[in-house]
Amino acid sequence: MDSIVIEGGQRLTGSIRINGAKNAGLLIQCAALLTDQPTTLRHVPKLADTRTMAKLLRHLGCEVEGERTMQIDPRGVAAGPLEATYDLVKTMRASVTVMGPLLARYGRARVSLPGGCAIGARPIDQHLKGLEALGATIDLRHGYVELRADRLRGGSFVFDTVTVGGTQNVMMAATLAKGASRLENVAREPEVEELACVLTKMGARIRGAGTSVIEIEGVDTLHGVDHAIIPDRIEAGTLAVAAALTQGDVLLEDAPVDHMHSVIGKLQEAGVQCTYEPDGLRVVGPDVLRPIDVSTRPYPGFPTDMQAQIMVLAACANGQSLITETIFENRFMHVPELARMGADIHVNGHCAVIRGPARLSGTTVMATDLRASASLVLAGLVAQGRTEIRRVYHLDRGYETIEERLRPLGAKIERRHDAPA
Ligand code: EPZ
Repeated sequence: MDSIVIEGGQRLTGSIRINGAKNAGLLIQCAALLTDQPTTLRHVPKLADTRTMAKLLRHLGCEVEGERTMQIDPRGVAAGPLEATYDLVKTMRASVTVMGPLLARYGRARVSLPGGCAIGARPIDQHLKGLEALGATIDLRHGYVELRADRLRGGSFVFDTVTVGGTQNVMMAATLAKGASRLENVAREPEVEELACVLTKMGARIRGAGTSVIEIEGVDTLHGVDHAIIPDRIEAGTLAVAAALTQGDVLLEDAPVDHMHSVIGKLQEAGVQCTYEPDGLRVVGPDVLRPIDVSTRPYPGFPTDMQAQIMVLAACANGQSLITETIFENRFMHVPELARMGADIHVNGHCAVIRGPARLSGTTVMATDLRASASLVLAGLVAQGRTEIRRVYHLDRGYETIEERLRPLGAKIERRHDAPA
């Protein structure tokens, strides 16, 4: 099993190009199922999750070639199983977003219920209610959801809770429904807008993506698409925190600054200099970081996927910070590991009080989930001495060879392949 070993204390300087967005790419891979024509995706990040989604598409009958530029040929899906198995869904819950496309294009789908997840229960009730509103019949049997619809019909649905995946699943289904659909209380994330942009390029008729109401006029067929995926705002935010923590000076090339206002705002509150350059975002870390109060919210609020990372910044700030996690019920699993490195963090329910500046010191720590593992890398960059992060398969789900990307910026970071679990 791999681990990452970091000698802390190095200042990060230079420039790094931001990769394509993981959470946009995964959904666009699903959208390729809505047509029988080939799709080409460019700027695809080389991530474990992207490879898992490609594996699911192959299981469904697609031919999938390439990594950075990915060609998907879905012609074999009609004769395929129209099923996402337990083993695939438990590896990556985003697999459930093949439901909408399969149901809309082929009239049926069988998908394993995702079950629990490290950061929370993460049910899919809203996905199912939304698909029912479009005329799907749904049976829950033996841990699987079985969906059927001769042809989906347009409908109206108000989501009980803002859900990114639920919005994307139902929006994709509605593109091939007969008639008009109106979805309210939808997610406004950039990844939802990006998916709507791709669906529109495929021939869908969608209005309102990026707002809280999306209207879709169903069409009979969609065609293939050639699309370059937008840069990853969470990777960019994570690297910005790395520069801020190490008194660094880093240019984040192609950073999607228009999707990062809440994160940039908090970094600036902490005293980090963020400058909009023609080709990206320049981040310069101060000698002294100021404390900040953060509450995670649906977009355009502060993203939950940046909560663990900003907590490391708070731990090193000069004063008391408060971080509130409002999206997931169990997304503080990085706290005990950061505390072992010397961070002063007290959790009470959904709130964490962080007192700094802590002098973090290196030790062996355990990754528990994707963004928690990113926070441990950030802590290792600034800790005194050597930090080893175990179970970095969590990290590899969302960050492309992080050690090879940070080393040119000055980090002393290696991957160890024979580490204990
Ligand atoms: C997406 O997950 C992202 N994943 C997550 O990123 C991200 O943290 C999350 O959105 C929130 O921004 C992908 O895009 C692949 P949700 P998703 O449905 O769609 C509840 C990462 O680190 N809910 O918006 O699964 C749910 O329990 C990952 O890259 C229901 O109650 O998230 C949660 O509390 C982690 N019923 C809240 O909504 C439902 O039917 C938000 O979840 C669906 C969701």
